[in-house]
Amino acid sequence: MKVISIINEKGGVGKTTASVNISYGLVERLMNDGKRILLIDADAQGNATKFFLPEFKSITLEEFNTLEVPQNCDIRSSTKFIKNSLISMLGERNDLNKLLLEGKGVIRECIHQTQYQQLDIIPSIGTELIATDKLLGASTGQRHVILKRALREIRNDYDIVIIDHAPTFNNITVNGINEAAVGIRIYFNGTAITVKPWDEEVIRPGI
Ligand SMILES: Nc1ncnc2c1ncn2[C@@H]1O[C@H](COP(=O)(O)OP(=O)(O)O)[C@@H](O)[C@H]1O
Ligand SMILES: [Mg+2]
Repeated sequence: MKVISIINEKGGVGKTTASVNISYGLVERLMNDGKRILLIDADAQGNATKFFLPEFKSITLEEFNTLEVPQNCDIRSSTKFIKNSLISMLGERNDLNKLLLEGKGVIRECIHQTQYQQLDIIPSIGTELIATDKLLGASTGQRHVILKRALREIRNDYDIVIIDHAPTFNNITVNGINEAAVGIRIYFNGTAITVKPWDEEVIRPGI
């Protein structure tokens, strides 16, 4: 399994467009080889999800705002409360939040089929990923390798994993980068998109 992260800290530069098109292009190109592609939507804006799963709905901001953290509890207890509430709010809406919040053993539940037989997606949509990011930030332990460990559970099911990142460098982004064998940084100068390998840039900055 090869994991490709599509990254840039800025929004509107073509990450989602690239992720969606690379995923579809791989389906077209590799369909006769029986290869399977998994797209992971790691951006709370959920644009890749809207593209492949237009009906998918996750937690809305209104729903999230109904959460009332009990008064006078310490940070640890309130973090636990928010995490458990978020998991129960998600219910059957299995997405990247569930995977990152629950960790082991749930990745298969979070995978949804698309209209293309070779392409599946782990969706996310709404503002709740921001809460998940904060919860990851507040947790101790191995919070940056949750995705890496989860992907190990399905390493024989997919040949290529594409991760569409949020325009930020949060705990979820680090999860995606930690697993990626290849990082692609997207540049958009207003007229054309340039794609550069992440490691080439890290080794030779400025190119
Ligand atoms: N190659 C391109 N040429 C011109 N416009 C593009 C190109 N790729 C994407 N766009 C447009 O740029 C906007 C932002 O693209 P998007 O993929 O959503 O960016 P990001 O995911 O980085 O926020 C969209 O309106 C999209 O249609
Ligand atoms: Mg995007």
